[in-house]
Parts: sequence; structure tokens; C-alpha cells
Amino acid sequence: MRVLVITGAGVSAESGIPTFRGKDGYWRNLDPARLATPEAFAKDPRLVWQWYRERRERIRKSEPNPAHQAIAKLAQHAQDFLLVTQNVDDLHARAEWEGNTLVRQNIVQIHGDIFITRCSHCDFVDAGRGGSPEPPAPGTIDSNSGRLRSIAPTSAQAEQEEEEIPKCPRCGALVRPGVVWFGEQLDLGEVQRVENFLDEGACDFALVIGTTAAFGYIIDWALRAIASNGELVEVNPDETSLSRFATHLIREPAAVALPRLVDELVTQ
Ligand code: OAD
Repeated sequence: MRVLVITGAGVSAESGIPTFRGKDGYWRNLDPARLATPEAFAKDPRLVWQWYRERRERIRKSEPNPAHQAIAKLAQHAQDFLLVTQNVDDLHARAEWEGNTLVRQNIVQIHGDIFITRCSHCDFVDAGRGGSPEPPAPGTIDSNSGRLRSIAPTSAQAEQEEEEIPKCPRCGALVRPGVVWFGEQLDLGEVQRVENFLDEGACDFALVIGTTAAFGYIIDWALRAIASNGELVEVNPDETSLSRFATHLIREPAAVALPRLVDELVTQ
């Protein structure tokens, strides 16, 4: 069995990580132009850094759910398997099935990894999973809503927090989260890994889970994976721009649908 799995924020929703465009999604309340673009970081690095710090904190407190675990199980049973995730969290990598986690070669984080930091100027990368794990600065998070309290901290806070954005040990510029921001190119090395997997042969199954498939390459990869006569299975409570291409639609939450679906696939 040759399988391509593509996931989005919906697969981590049941682990308590907000999606982007769903109900209570990040982009419903926050402006991506102020938080997820290189221009936003140049304009207000402290705000952007704090937002990613808050997200890292939330991810650290979260656990993989049965959908992540079922995908780890599928990887164990498939002859050829690749997971392409748009998620910058590490829940896929942490998910275990019978003590086994996905191997690094089987995961492509196409939008980057929130626990990696890199220099905003030179090509220094700190993959030490550090990403400065300390919790957000005091008073930044509104204890009721759990959201950023105010965008414009007091000057005293500003100086102190400015200092806390780590500097590149090589060139001294500010470091930034190792994620792909709007208007930025995907990592060509990671894209090539997906292309190589697609070129190596058609898939029996392409599972697309918890994504609005807002980006064209997601639909393109799913369709190319099942080019000849594979099955394209969409797992998502809602309709998406990929739904009309799917051969199977499972309108259920991923943590409910995936354990059952994977059991069916591995016992075929
Ligand atoms: P979205 O928020 O756009 O879509 C999440 C999808 O998950 C929606 O279609 C929901 O219906 C679905 N969903 C919600 N709960 C679910 C559940 N329990 N089980 C299954 N599906 C569920 O998130 P993405 O499609 O991942 O990129 O967004 C793609 C990219 O846009 C992200 O990687 C991020 C964002 O902006 C960048 O920032 C570059």
C-alpha cells in the first residue's frame, strides 16, 4: 500500500490547538498581516515573537490525539508512506503507535516548524528545538480570554522584551520562528521531497485531513498522488475546495474518523 497523507490545522483541533479559518480560528480574531508576514516582523518583532511564544506554550501543553496516533499506525503498515503537514506544531512527530513514532524521513512540515528558530538576516538556523521555551512575558496574556492583552505594551516592558528576542549568534540580527509566512516561498528542499515521493509512483490512497486546502499545491499534490486510480479520502466536518475531487468524503472530526479509517485500510 502506497499512501500520501496531507494534514492541516483540523487534525490538531481536538488537541486544543486553534485552527486558522474555522470557528474561533486564529485568523477570525487576529490579523495575519500583523502576525504572519516578514513585513509584520520588521515592523513589530516583539508582537510577532510573543504570538509565536504563546503558540509554542500552548503546543507544549497539548498532546497528540487519536488522529495523530492513527496516522503513526498507518505509517507502520504502509509500504510507502509520506505525511505532508501544513502544521508547525510537533504533534505528528510526538504521536506514538505501539511505542513507535513517525520517522523524520516520513514527515514534511511544508510550512515549517515553530520550535525551530532562524536568523531574520543570515542563514543561521537553530534547530535545537529551543525556540526560547519560556512562557510569554508577565501581563501579556489576558487570563480570561487567554489572548494577547494589548498590542502596545508600556515602554518599560518594550525595552525589556525587545532584549528578550534572541539575537543571531553569527550576525547579531533578530532571530525569527522557523515557519513560512505569507508572501514567503516554501522551502525548496521540502517541496522536492514531496515531488520525489509523487514521482516514485502513484498512491493507492491520498488522505487529506483537517484542511481548507486554501493553497493550490495541496490540491495539486493530492490529485497527482492518486493520478491513475487511487482513492482520495477527505476527512473534514466541513466542505472544502478539495471536496469535489474526493472519491470518499468523511464528514467527521479526525480523532473520531481516523482510527476507524486506518483500521479499515490496514486490514484490507
Ligand atoms: P484552516 O483553519 O484553514 O482549516 C482547518 C480545517 O479543519 C477546516 O476545513 C475545518 O473544517 C477543519 N476541521 C476543524 N476541526 C476539525 C476536526 N476536529 N477534524 C477534522 N477537520 C477539522 O487550516 P489549514 O487548512 O491548515 O499557513 O490552513 C492552511 C494554512 O493557512 C496554515 O498552515 C497557515 C494558515 O494561514 C500559514 O500561516 C502560512
